[in-house]
Amino acid sequence: MTVQSNTSIKKQKSLSCLKKYIKKYFVSYLIGFAALIFVNLILLQFPMITGRITDGLRAESYSLINLRDDIILLLVLGLLVTVGRFIWRYFIFGTSRKIEYGLRGDFFWHLEKLSLRFFNEHKTGDLMAHATNDLNAIRMMVGPGVLMVLDAVILTLLVVSKMLIDINVTLTLFAIIPLPIITVASTLLGKIIKSRFKEKQEAFSRMTEMVQENISGIRIIKAFVQEAKEICVFNKTNQNNYNKNMRVVKLFALLFPLANLITGLSIALALGYGGYLTMIGQLSLGRFVAFIQYILMLVWPMLALGWCINIISQGTASLKRFQIILNEQPDIYDNPNTKAIHHIDGSILFKNLTFMYPNTSLHALNQITLTIKQGQTLGIVGRTGSGKTTLVNLLLRLFDPPRGTIYIDGHDILDIPLKVLRNHIGYVPQDNFLFSETIERNISFAFNKSYSEQVIEAAKKANVHENIAEFPMDYQTMIGERGVTLSGGQKQRISLARALMIKAPIMILDDSVSAVDTKTEEKILQELVNERKNKTTLIIAHRLSTIKNADKIIVIDDGRIVESGTHDELLLNKSIYYDMFQLQQLELAEE
Ligand SMILES: Nc1ncnc2c1ncn2[C@@H]1O[C@H](COP(=O)(O)OP(=O)(O)O)[C@@H](O)[C@H]1O
Ligand SMILES: [Mg+2]
Repeated sequence: MTVQSNTSIKKQKSLSCLKKYIKKYFVSYLIGFAALIFVNLILLQFPMITGRITDGLRAESYSLINLRDDIILLLVLGLLVTVGRFIWRYFIFGTSRKIEYGLRGDFFWHLEKLSLRFFNEHKTGDLMAHATNDLNAIRMMVGPGVLMVLDAVILTLLVVSKMLIDINVTLTLFAIIPLPIITVASTLLGKIIKSRFKEKQEAFSRMTEMVQENISGIRIIKAFVQEAKEICVFNKTNQNNYNKNMRVVKLFALLFPLANLITGLSIALALGYGGYLTMIGQLSLGRFVAFIQYILMLVWPMLALGWCINIISQGTASLKRFQIILNEQPDIYDNPNTKAIHHIDGSILFKNLTFMYPNTSLHALNQITLTIKQGQTLGIVGRTGSGKTTLVNLLLRLFDPPRGTIYIDGHDILDIPLKVLRNHIGYVPQDNFLFSETIERNISFAFNKSYSEQVIEAAKKANVHENIAEFPMDYQTMIGERGVTLSGGQKQRISLARALMIKAPIMILDDSVSAVDTKTEEKILQELVNERKNKTTLIIAHRLSTIKNADKIIVIDDGRIVESGTHDELLLNKSIYYDMFQLQQLELAEE
């Protein structure tokens, strides 16, 4: 197994994950905001120009040429606004996307570093939610959120001061009274929308989950003739999703008309009082027209402020959750006393090893003491749940054993660099996980490059070459959803080839040939004997035929070694191993 170097794990601990990006993109933000202010300043001119045209027309002091010039001015300003808006959108939304990209990369990088304990404690779905929903909320905050707050505040200040200075103080104060109600309403409604939005999202993910499971489990559903029931369940889930969506739609439907109503109120006040002022000649008609337009310009910032409050509160909550995960430290790493070991020969010693998984109280392994000499083959048998895989997990340091309990070549494995340790162990896991990749990439997984010859050699040793040759694109055939579906035995043999590629001094097979027929198994074992000559090999097996030629066999039960010896010795013992053997002989005879 290849492991990336473990340096720089401790970096970045207290540093909030956002800071470095804000620093990095500060200039982009500045450009964006400059463009934003520029746009707002231009927007401010429009009502004044319309007002000027109105007054000019009324006073009949306005010629067609004046009119043409003003229209051209309006068009030019409109063009500038468009360019300015493009710039701020590009810089601010673009930056928020860059930050999202960076954070997502950090998150993935971080996940790859974390230890198995972390993945034991966190569900895949939750981690995916952090990578999608939380990141989304953070992006909304650093992009549209920040932008809208500044936009709203700047625009409001500009417009209101323009109204106060250039038009009329009392009229302004009078007319803007109802407007903050929009902000309050959009904050309050926004809160409710947020909670309903969450329900909506949950309903949606429940539905997706259900569809996904149905498709993966379609064979079972058909075999048990459960289509009708599944359709019925789906209809309910679908209905629920619809209902939750409608609850959001209703609120949105309420918010905008409400904003309009309040704006209408403002305009009514402006029309009333402003009209009066115009009548008594304190306000020109043009100013009056401009004023109404300014009021309309204030609606959006008022709405936006309410939205922002929600976007930012949601974003900060997501940021907190995200930061907690980023602060998780891998609990398996090279300790400061790690020795400069570059090579492993492969003698293993377990010394009174007792182990409990984190947050459990069950002894998965109990006082295991065992010596495996360099070059020996050890067979491990025992019931499901007896602790066989745990032994392997500890040897690979997927979980850390207590100090002083496992030694390789005389070194406590806690003092062997992780990378060296794992690079010197070829491992065929029990679950035979293969990636949705080509067969060749799967077999040469531990290497950055493909070495076709070695891949074929390994596949031949694992007795899977002939099967692969029959696939449409032989070694370039894709595995998984986008490619071939492999049988259990084929998967096992490809995993075996993947481990054989490394030619490691220690090899571990965890129940790796259980789905292979006995004849093929026999061939594979023969290959293994040649391949593993003078190299340490641990074989966990259910079938005793798999391990009968091992130099030593241990029987594990309830985390303890209950019997050990060679096949013949154990048969003579007439104990557990003997009973297992008798039982399997009987089964064989029945076949
Ligand atoms: N990741 C884990 N976290 C907690 N308990 C575990 C974990 N893996 C295995 N166990 C428990 O440890 C015991 C031994 O499991 P395991 O080593 O997988 O058995 P075997 O490989 O012999 O079937 C079982 O009781 C199992 O439930
Ligand atoms: Mg197991």
